[in-house]
Amino acid sequence: MIPPLDRSTRQLGWNGTRWVVCGLALLAMLAGGALALQARATQPRRETELSGLRLRLERAVWLHEPTDHGDTATLPSLPGAPAPGQRRLTVELTVFNPRRLPSDFTPGELRLTDATTGSEWRPTMGGSAAFTVRPSEVSSVTLGFDVPRTSSVLRLEWARGSERALLLSTRRPKNPNEGPPGWPRRVEELPPGNASAGSALFHGRLACATCHGNPAEPEGHRIGPALANFSRVGATRVVGMSAAQYAYESLLNPGAFIAPECSGQGPCAQTRTMPLYGETLSPQEMADLISYLVNPRTGD
Ligand code: HEC
Repeated sequence: MIPPLDRSTRQLGWNGTRWVVCGLALLAMLAGGALALQARATQPRRETELSGLRLRLERAVWLHEPTDHGDTATLPSLPGAPAPGQRRLTVELTVFNPRRLPSDFTPGELRLTDATTGSEWRPTMGGSAAFTVRPSEVSSVTLGFDVPRTSSVLRLEWARGSERALLLSTRRPKNPNEGPPGWPRRVEELPPGNASAGSALFHGRLACATCHGNPAEPEGHRIGPALANFSRVGATRVVGMSAAQYAYESLLNPGAFIAPECSGQGPCAQTRTMPLYGETLSPQEMADLISYLVNPRTGD
């Protein structure tokens, strides 16, 4: 086990400057400060050891590009923010040296690869300077990868010497205007939903329950995240996004967000393929499903 970060921990920023990792404040900083964020995170908490260093992926978050915010306003690109058309995957890592000898770590050992085309991205933020991790030392490193439009699975890998380890699989979230055509941007623009009809679709024809189980029985067998208490949990997923809007975006753009319980290992993590409902559902069916998810009791 990597010991927890403590006061003796070295905090490395992208210029090699020292700074303190502080949750969302950090993310806001990375996005250029003033931007409202729509970040999608995973918490894998898995440790990997390669050639004398142990690494744990603490957090991986996709940042929206600045032009996404507001229906009409286009925000100017801010220094440090991803270029227009790109999305930044920000990863927080803990590096630990369990051995008796110092060991070097280079941020460029981390790379993000497109599983389909083989394109590879090195950290665009986080610098490339190697640093030495002393025996028993714990370092926190934050890196950013700016990724142009792609719909493939992206693999975050750690390559060290001849060894390689997969840390995370994810997909780049689409911009709202890249989604399936014909869908309004806001869930409120859908027709009013009917939770009973949504329940019938969920348990019947669309068989959402085969992956998600019954939202009324969260402990039941399932491979997707439990959707119990969705009205509460869904509203906490993305800063500033309601549960209904989040459900809507999850259905239009599955995989943009990976539920925390679906990262790392476990059956949910292996089936990261939620069907593309944006291509098959009618607006009424979409509204009914969302209505059921945010208020399952009225659907029973
Ligand atoms: C083949 C299995 C599968 C089916 C069928 C499926 N899902 Fe999913 N769903 C998943 C997986 C896996 C995830 C987690 C991946 C992720 O977070 O992107 C997920 C995520 C979600 C989320 C986000 C949950 C959260 O807590 O963040 C919602 C909402 C959702 N699904 C609703 C539905 C609805 C509604 C249906 C039916 C129309 C459905 N799903 C059908 C596998 C499935």
